[in-house]
Amino acid sequence: MIYLDNAATSFPKPEGVYAAMDRFARHSLANPGRSGHKMALASEHALADARHRLNRFFHGKNPDRWAFTLNCTDALNMAFKGILQEGDHVITTNLEHNSVSRPLVALAEARHITLTRIAADAGGTIDPDAIRAAITPKTRLIALTHASNVLGTIQPVAEVGRIAREHDRLFLVDAAQTAGVVPIDIQSMCIDLLALPGHKSLFGPTGTGALYVGSRVHLRPWREGGTGGDSLTPTQPTDYPYYLEGGTPNILGIVGLTAGLDFVEERGVEALHKHEVLLCKSLRSKLLELPGIEVFGHADDTQRVGVLSFRCAALPAPELAGLLDQSFDIAVRPGLHCSPYIHKALGTAPDGLVRVSVGPFNTEADIDQLVAALQEITRGL
Ligand code: ALA
Repeated sequence: MIYLDNAATSFPKPEGVYAAMDRFARHSLANPGRSGHKMALASEHALADARHRLNRFFHGKNPDRWAFTLNCTDALNMAFKGILQEGDHVITTNLEHNSVSRPLVALAEARHITLTRIAADAGGTIDPDAIRAAITPKTRLIALTHASNVLGTIQPVAEVGRIAREHDRLFLVDAAQTAGVVPIDIQSMCIDLLALPGHKSLFGPTGTGALYVGSRVHLRPWREGGTGGDSLTPTQPTDYPYYLEGGTPNILGIVGLTAGLDFVEERGVEALHKHEVLLCKSLRSKLLELPGIEVFGHADDTQRVGVLSFRCAALPAPELAGLLDQSFDIAVRPGLHCSPYIHKALGTAPDGLVRVSVGPFNTEADIDQLVAALQEITRGL
């Protein structure tokens, strides 16, 4: 199998991730924060270590402001449902994944909030001035993806963060496609809320994610329950991170996430990104030579993560991806990628595109095999 679906989840994971999880599961998997015995304390320590590591890596202000979540969607829901109030206005974009769009549209349809959706340019980039122009006295939040999961285009997060801070508005970044592969500096980018998955470019297992909650944010908890301490308090204890973390955390997954972060720090974010850029650059130039193939997204590969989407005039994306899987053992993601608004803008709905997404374990040989398979398929057509 040639795995080219790393934007959905990275595969394989680095060896260190498998080893750390296996070791932890066999020897240390107790309930952190509960019970107080040696194993429980070791689990609590692993959790605290992960928070410190994330805080350092993403330049947060306080390790305790990192709440672990099920995935990026969970982190985004925690943010939206925790901060938005009756009458608020939210600015978002047509690049967003349904994990951002659906909670916001549901709140807007319930007439709880109003929503402005800024359109990306033809190449897939948002103009920060369009965001500035959309701010109203009621705007509480600007919610922006760091990179499109369809086009891979990296968004001007630092500029938008500056605008949000100048206007004293909250700024949320969905780092689903960038955490681990594009530098993120919470403080210098003026990010108030950072939502990320643990299982993509941070190389943890599925079931891991996190939300960073900056000091300007007052969040209502949307998951309440046991925290291991303060059992007599009738409602959720207000000290972070327990305030947001009712229930037993996915400590095994978080140990895997920390090992994934080890891998990222060893390789370096710039080197990981460069590897993806080079593979996508090569793929783009080879795809452009194939008759009947149309490639999407602006051409500057350095301004994209390792995602490239295309379509074939003669074969709808789902069928083309099915052939790649069944006849050539190549895994890609076809369709709308849970991001309907950008597909509507590109005119690629309802069939969508074929998305190729590379990771650190892909090689030029994988790209060549994909191109050879596409040549064979298009010749047959
Ligand atoms: N959001 C993930 C993707 O783009 C699942 O494939």
